[in-house]
Amino acid sequence: MVLLLALACTGGLYAVFAPADKAQAEETAQSLTIEEGKKLYAVGCASCHGTGGQGTSDGPSLVGVGAAAVDFQVATGRMPAATSQSAQAPRKPAVYSQAEIDQLAAYVASLGAGPAVPTEEEYGPQGADIAKGGELFRTNCAQCHNFTGKGGALTHGKYAPDLEDVDPKHVYQAMLTGPQNMPSFPDSVLTVQNKKDIIAYLQEVNSDDSESPGGLALGSLGPVAEGLFGWVFGLGGLIAVAVWVAARTAKAKKS
Ligand code: HEC
Ligand code: HEC
Repeated sequence: MVLLLALACTGGLYAVFAPADKAQAEETAQSLTIEEGKKLYAVGCASCHGTGGQGTSDGPSLVGVGAAAVDFQVATGRMPAATSQSAQAPRKPAVYSQAEIDQLAAYVASLGAGPAVPTEEEYGPQGADIAKGGELFRTNCAQCHNFTGKGGALTHGKYAPDLEDVDPKHVYQAMLTGPQNMPSFPDSVLTVQNKKDIIAYLQEVNSDDSESPGGLALGSLGPVAEGLFGWVFGLGGLIAVAVWVAARTAKAKKS
């Protein structure tokens, strides 16, 4: 009887404490990550974004922008920005390793709740509808990025970049967080499935084996390039034929 009771007690105690230990270990690991991120932040980011992420005249507040915004901005090399004066912080090679970016993201996320870094399941190609993605891209993104994502100029020296070689994860994060002059598309505007469809569309139109079925793609720059081609070569050809016919009839009359 005593033995049974002792066994039941140990079992019970184990059940109570073991998961708590595991959760606690995870919690300490998480706070260590945040600590490391805080150190990196103090050196690389605080001069513009303020010591507690509250923002300064050289950079906006980062409270509530979330891990997704940090992962996007730092992994695409936009941050740390070289100066706060240029029209737009451009994409450039990343300064931090992915492990450091995760630490920075964990620190900024600890300042205020914001969108988390998306998982592969969210931005991966499984179950995506490419045709629907094309439709969504043309209605939501093409006015700035052109209809196959080749990019285009905006006002005041700003521009929407070419999306050809952008990592699917960063496309997802750009939609989620809306960097600089781009509007954000939270899940209430474009659902996870919508975002997945758009990413699959971009990958399809930019992959090497999506040859243009009509022949020459003219750089996929859209109606302006195609219209110009039509005017110069189409109309030009018609004029040349008209001149040739006129010259021939004039000659025939003479002789
Ligand atoms: C030279 C100043 C400067 C430095 C250094 C800098 N930033 Fe920035 N950061 C800016 C400015 C300016 C913007 C706003 C860009 C815009 O919207 O035009 C910005 C924007 C951001 C954003 C986007 C905020 C949002 O609302 O989505 C994030 C995230 C960010 N910075 C993170 C960082 C991190 C992390 C570091 C350090 C690795 C860093 N920045 C270093 C100036 C700076
Ligand atoms: C109002 C114009 C506008 C619209 C609409 C817009 N974008 Fe953008 N987009 C921009 C600008 C400007 C930037 C550059 C911001 C920066 O450099 O931080 C950008 C940047 C991006 C980037 C980052 C590219 C890189 O080189 O890292 C991606 C990805 C992106 N946009 C995708 C989209 C998608 C997908 C949509 C539609 C759901 C969309 N954008 C709608 C203006 C726009």
